Amino acid sequence: MPRTDIDWASLGFGFTDVNCHIRYTWKDGAWGEGEFVKDPYITMHIGASCLHYGQECFEGMKAFRQKDGKIVIFRPEENALRMSRTATRCVMPPVPVEMFVEACDKVVAANEEYVPPYGTGGSLYLRPLLIGTGPQIGVAPAHEYTFMVMVMPVGAYYKGGLKPVRAVILDDWDRAAPHGMGDVKVGGNYAASLFAHEKAKKDGWPVELYLDAATHKYVEEFSTSNFIGIKPDGTYVTPDSTSVLPSVTNKSLKQCAADLGWNVQTRKIPYEEIREFAEVAACGTAVVVTPVWEITRGNDVIKISDSDTVGPHLQKLYETMQGIQYGVLEDIHGWCHQVCV
Ligand code: COI
Repeated sequence: MPRTDIDWASLGFGFTDVNCHIRYTWKDGAWGEGEFVKDPYITMHIGASCLHYGQECFEGMKAFRQKDGKIVIFRPEENALRMSRTATRCVMPPVPVEMFVEACDKVVAANEEYVPPYGTGGSLYLRPLLIGTGPQIGVAPAHEYTFMVMVMPVGAYYKGGLKPVRAVILDDWDRAAPHGMGDVKVGGNYAASLFAHEKAKKDGWPVELYLDAATHKYVEEFSTSNFIGIKPDGTYVTPDSTSVLPSVTNKSLKQCAADLGWNVQTRKIPYEEIREFAEVAACGTAVVVTPVWEITRGNDVIKISDSDTVGPHLQKLYETMQGIQYGVLEDIHGWCHQVCV
C-alpha cells in the first residue's frame, strides 16, 4: 500500500529517499547477481572510467499504480533495448534485456509503498544507470562496470502538469553533432545542454529547443525530450535525424496517433515549418506530453497558441497515453508490464 506520510499530490520531479536501489557488477566478462542496497551513496575507484571519460549511460521509465490496483512498468523492454544500443556505442557490456527487466521488477516491488496512489497523477520514476567503475587512465574501456536501478516517486516535470511552456532556440550552443552520440542516452548529451539550459531558464524559458548542429536549418529536439508538431489537419510530424534520441514515449504516441487514424510523419522539419503547426509539444518519459505555446529564436517569436491553451490533439494524446498507463483504457499493444508485488 502507498505510504501515508507523503503528500502525493504535490510531488515534483526530484530525488526522494526510498527503501533501496538494485545493483549488479560486471567483472571477468560476466554479470553477477543483483543486490538491494539501502545506501544511496556509491564508493568507486578514483580512476573509474565513468568519472574520467564519461563511460556511462542511463534510462528513464515509469511505473504506475493502476485503477484496479495493479502496478505496471511502461514498456521496459524498449528501454532495455535502447540501453543495449547505448552500451554498445560506449563499449560497455550491454545489460541483457531479461536482466534489465528483472532488475526493474525487483526494485519496484521492493519500493512498492513509494508507487503513488491511483488518482494523484504521480508515478514511480525508474532510473537505470550503467557506469564504468573499473580504473582506466589510458583512454580505453574499463574492465569493470556497475548497473543500478534507482527509483523515486515523481509528479510533473514542468510545474503544472499539462500546462503549456515557452521554449527558446539558442543558436550559440548545440546538443549533439551528426555521427556523435545524440541518438543514444549518455549523460554527456545532458551535460552539453546544461549551460544553455541555465541561460534559458534565467531568461524565462523552461526549455530549449535544438536545431541540427551542422546547418541549424532543421528542428531536432528539446533538451529533455523529443519534438512533436501537429498540423491544422491533425498530421503528427516528428523529426527524422540521426542525432535525436529515439524516445519510447514518441514511438508510443506515434502508434496512438496512428490508432486514432491520424497521419504520422517522421521526417526533416525545417525551422520555418514551425509556423505551420497548430500544436507543438515536448514528449518523453519525464515530461509525458508538454505543450509548447511559443518558440523564440532571437527576435523571431513564433506563437503557436495562447499560453493557457492545450490543443485538442495534444489533449487527446495525453489522455490516451495516461489512460493506458493508469489502466483506464485498453492496453491494445500490451505495453504495460505487470510487476508482481
Ligand atoms: C526521461 O524522460 O526519462 C529522461 O531521462 C529525461 C530527463 C531530462 C529527465
